[in-house]
Amino acid sequence: MTKPLSVGLAGLGTVGAGVIGMLRTNADLVAARAGRRIEVTAVSARNRDRDRGVSLDGLRWFDDPVAMASDPALDVVVEVMGGSDGPARALVEAALSAGKPVVTANKALVAVHGAALAGLAERTGTTLAFEAAVAGGIPVIKALREGLAGNRISRVAGILNGTCNYILTVMREQKRDFADVLADAQRLGYAEADPAFDIDGIDAAHKLAILAALAFGRPVAFDAVHVEGIRSVSALDIAFAAELGYRIKLLGIARQTEDGVAARVHPCMVPESAPIARVDGVFNAVVAEGDFVGRVMLEGRGAGAGPTASAVVADLVDIARDRVTPVWGAGSGDLSNAPSVSMDSHFGAYYLRLMVMDRPGVIADVTAALRDAGVSLGSMLQRGRAPGEAVPVVLVTHETRESAMRSALAHISALDSVIETPALIRIEPA
Ligand SMILES: NC(=O)c1ccc[n+]([C@@H]2O[C@H](COP(=O)([O-])OP(=O)(O)OC[C@H]3O[C@@H](n4cnc5c(N)ncnc54)[C@H](OP(=O)(O)O)[C@@H]3O)[C@@H](O)[C@H]2O)c1
Repeated sequence: MTKPLSVGLAGLGTVGAGVIGMLRTNADLVAARAGRRIEVTAVSARNRDRDRGVSLDGLRWFDDPVAMASDPALDVVVEVMGGSDGPARALVEAALSAGKPVVTANKALVAVHGAALAGLAERTGTTLAFEAAVAGGIPVIKALREGLAGNRISRVAGILNGTCNYILTVMREQKRDFADVLADAQRLGYAEADPAFDIDGIDAAHKLAILAALAFGRPVAFDAVHVEGIRSVSALDIAFAAELGYRIKLLGIARQTEDGVAARVHPCMVPESAPIARVDGVFNAVVAEGDFVGRVMLEGRGAGAGPTASAVVADLVDIARDRVTPVWGAGSGDLSNAPSVSMDSHFGAYYLRLMVMDRPGVIADVTAALRDAGVSLGSMLQRGRAPGEAVPVVLVTHETRESAMRSALAHISALDSVIETPALIRIEPA
């Protein structure tokens, strides 16, 4: 058998320890598939003394992960430290500059610097692989870039953040409020102590930017993704959604339109009957629509040591076999320059929930604001009557432009009888 592939592993946290564990447990099977053994021979982390649950005996230790890039004994570098800049970026740039292939799980790095890093890899004739960066154990990068390579993809969408999906699932099942469920999720280790990246939609936006680049063959454009998180989703809206036949999911959706690529992350109401509406808890799912294949949906675990290691090791097997494709599916000269389209031109139906004072003329004022903005009302729900008190009123619009809806919303929010910031949730067809 050919000489083993010697791996330098930077980061020994959840993912790093998972990679060592998988390569040891499945060593023979991986060797057969890779055509040679794959061995971690060097590691780097901050704290040399920390117990990682895996033995580091016989492995070389690097205090400075960036030094791995120029180590001639290493064939490939795996970066699982995290962060879009700092040592992760420095290591990846140094390794690619030296012509050493890199495997990373770091979606922030790939979403923000992926275009420049791909250019660097192209110039030095090496590769950057990042299967683990999107949807953890689901092989969605390979599916889009290789499995669906013959298709013109029109839309890619998914549940891309397990923490948000877990919180929304528990809110629905247990009829509890966001803050309460988030606190529980933090106790259980499903949400970080600082949960902002997850619950504000940034993590999902990183992943969507990567998927959109692959699906539409264009340079990755994180800044062009419209991002909203789940902080303002309430138990009340989840209950109204159920009454209307919907579930609320944080989706990342990218679409190829006539004007360019539209990419957005926000809470959506999806029909209860849609397969993606049934993906609950920490699970992720990705749906792609191609002109020849039709609709493809992949579902699985989007995080955790095992699923993420599974994706990292798959990339290592490709590198061991010299199976290398361009980072974004096509060479940088062959990528499209389709522009990004702004959220203002989004076209869809909306759920709008208001808390209004129950008094004559209120509904007339609200519907007048919608009419003046050119928004057509599909249906309205009002529960109970409480003259002189606040009651929820739910409006569902027909499909309309985002800009029109925003203009109506500004007028409605300013009405004296509307006593809370209205809840606006976009309705996404199945
Ligand atoms: N966890 C998941 O389920 C998951 C899933 C998909 C993708 N990812 C991505 O995978 C990457 C790693 O995630 P993780 O959950 O494994 O993180 P983690 O548990 O926090 O581990 C990070 C590791 O990087 C090391 N590190 C940090 N800064 C370093 C530095 N300056 N020099 C050397 N080592 C340094 C840490 O060292 P010490 O241990 O000594 O502090 C730690 O071992 C991130 O990009 C993340 O987004 C994670």
